Amino acid sequence: MAASRIVLLAVVALQLLLLPAAWSSRVFSVVDYGAAGDGFRYDTTAIQAAVDACAAVGGGRVLLPAPGDYLTATVHLRSGVVLEVAPGARLLGGTRQEDYPAESGRWYVVLAENTTGAGVMGGGEINGQSAAFVVTPNEKKNIMVSWNATGDCQGDECRPRLVGFIDSKDVKIHDITLNQPAYWCLHLVRCDNSVIHNVSIFGDWNTPNNDGIDITDSNNTVITDCHIDTGDDAICPKSSDRPVYNLTATNCWIRTKSCAIKFGSASYFNFEKLFFDNITIVDSHRGLGMQIRDGGNVSDVVFSNIKMSTRNWVFLAGSKHGLLRNLKFKNIDLTYKRWTNCTGGLYDYRPGCEEMVKHRTGGMMLEHISGLEVDNVRMRWSRSSLKGWDVNPLLFRPSTIDNLSFHDWQSVDVQ
Ligand SMILES: *[C@@H]1O[C@H](CO)[C@@H](O)[C@H](O)[C@H]1NC(C)=O
Ligand SMILES: *[C@@H]1O[C@H](CO)[C@@H](O)[C@H](O)[C@H]1NC(C)=O
Ligand SMILES: *[C@@H]1O[C@H](CO)[C@@H](O)[C@H](O)[C@H]1NC(C)=O
Ligand SMILES: *[C@@H]1O[C@H](CO)[C@@H](O)[C@H](O)[C@H]1NC(C)=O
Ligand SMILES: *[C@@H]1O[C@H](CO)[C@@H](O)[C@H](O)[C@H]1NC(C)=O
Ligand SMILES: *[C@@H]1O[C@H](CO)[C@@H](O)[C@H](O)[C@H]1NC(C)=O
Ligand SMILES: *[C@@H]1O[C@H](CO)[C@@H](O)[C@H](O)[C@H]1NC(C)=O
Ligand SMILES: *[C@@H]1O[C@H](CO)[C@@H](O)[C@H](O)[C@H]1NC(C)=O
Ligand SMILES: *[C@@H]1O[C@H](CO)[C@@H](O)[C@H](O)[C@H]1NC(C)=O
Repeated sequence: MAASRIVLLAVVALQLLLLPAAWSSRVFSVVDYGAAGDGFRYDTTAIQAAVDACAAVGGGRVLLPAPGDYLTATVHLRSGVVLEVAPGARLLGGTRQEDYPAESGRWYVVLAENTTGAGVMGGGEINGQSAAFVVTPNEKKNIMVSWNATGDCQGDECRPRLVGFIDSKDVKIHDITLNQPAYWCLHLVRCDNSVIHNVSIFGDWNTPNNDGIDITDSNNTVITDCHIDTGDDAICPKSSDRPVYNLTATNCWIRTKSCAIKFGSASYFNFEKLFFDNITIVDSHRGLGMQIRDGGNVSDVVFSNIKMSTRNWVFLAGSKHGLLRNLKFKNIDLTYKRWTNCTGGLYDYRPGCEEMVKHRTGGMMLEHISGLEVDNVRMRWSRSSLKGWDVNPLLFRPSTIDNLSFHDWQSVDVQ
């Protein structure tokens, strides 16, 4: 009698567990799986157990409650599992190589691979502890630890990224702070249908390769209301094995020591239908850059309502192996202010007179473009900062450019 009632209850409970409607409300706290949250002991086992339990019932949320610093090796997200880091809680990435999988391509603090509907949210923070990877601090460029002993990656670029989604669909990342990545911060690889909303990214200004959001080989990506303040490229579409289609970024604020919106490097396939609207770029080295030279082409890209204040120019460079087609600039406000002491006539890719390229400088540098429409673009030049520089509002190689249209275009001096 009693036994059969228990069986009946168990069946009812199982049915409840399997009810799809209950998914979103299903919360698994890592504390219930033994997480200490003291920032000292590793909570990897507890966090992964909570993720796996959550995935086993079809998905839900895995909660990292506040207060708490949850130190972890790589956490593998599963389909339908959304990691919820509560306001005041932090997920801390381990700083030892053994905390990460064997292959460097999987070195992320949080990694979702082959998932549908996985995500990260919650108001708290994921922190890569980048300071622990600095060997020698340097204002131009910190010297970093390198985990290159395996030969799996090269030079000083062998450090873990922060959050990665690989071969995943319906990715959602929102209301979260991603802080101090040791290398790239947020990385999508071969993803489809991703939403990145209200994400704040803070990278160390002096750490190399501190990219904000890298979108590799991915389609249908929407980025809204993000705040990115970092040492390397902030929003960076790349094509290595597949094209990049349909990316929009709107309502974002960016400050970077490198380039705010940068296409490539890695431009082996096409970039099509990318739309950037209402972006504010401040105190940055370069604002908009395209370096397309690996065989892919760029087409149908719109930049509208962009306000930027940078040291260097808008740099749109296709090549013999990559044409830029149908670009549109509408309502753009550019302020250029140099403050380096490098010799005029050289174009510096990074501040501190590093990576110099011999090239005259211009407000907009154009190469290998077919179809450029400029409408309501204002360039302001801080002349006092340009002594010794031979600058031109526009610089292009005529033989590589056709079908340009300029409407309401101004270049003015300011003090
Ligand atoms: C992802 O799927 C691919 C192909 O189906 C498979 O080769 C790979 O092992 C999977 N990776 C993981 C982590 O499940
Ligand atoms: C690893 O990278 C460091 C820093 O760039 C370099 O000095 C060292 O030679 C590299 N080691 C190997 C085995 O590649
Ligand atoms: C954006 O996310 C932060 C947490 O990172 C949260 O405090 C804030 O309320 C969110 N903003 C909106 C408009 O939802
Ligand atoms: C993106 O779309 C293109 C064209 O349909 C396709 O070849 C590519 O595989 C898609 N990429 C992903 C990650 O789904
Ligand atoms: C672009 O991607 C977004 C997000 O996935 C989607 O809503 C929209 O329909 C896509 N647009 C096109 C033209 O495919
Ligand atoms: C533009 O983006 C900012 C955030 O960077 C936001 O506050 C503002 O409302 C947006 N403007 C429009 C017209 O959407
Ligand atoms: C880029 O365009 C050229 C022609 O302009 C074409 O030959 C090449 O195949 C295109 N690349 C890709 C990846 O489609
Ligand atoms: C440029 O040189 C001047 C004079 O030597 C110096 O005062 C200033 O700090 C230098 N600026 C930068 C950004 O290095
Ligand atoms: C010229 O470029 C515009 C977009 O800027 C495009 O719509 C138009 O088709 C192009 N015309 C030719 C003849 O290529």
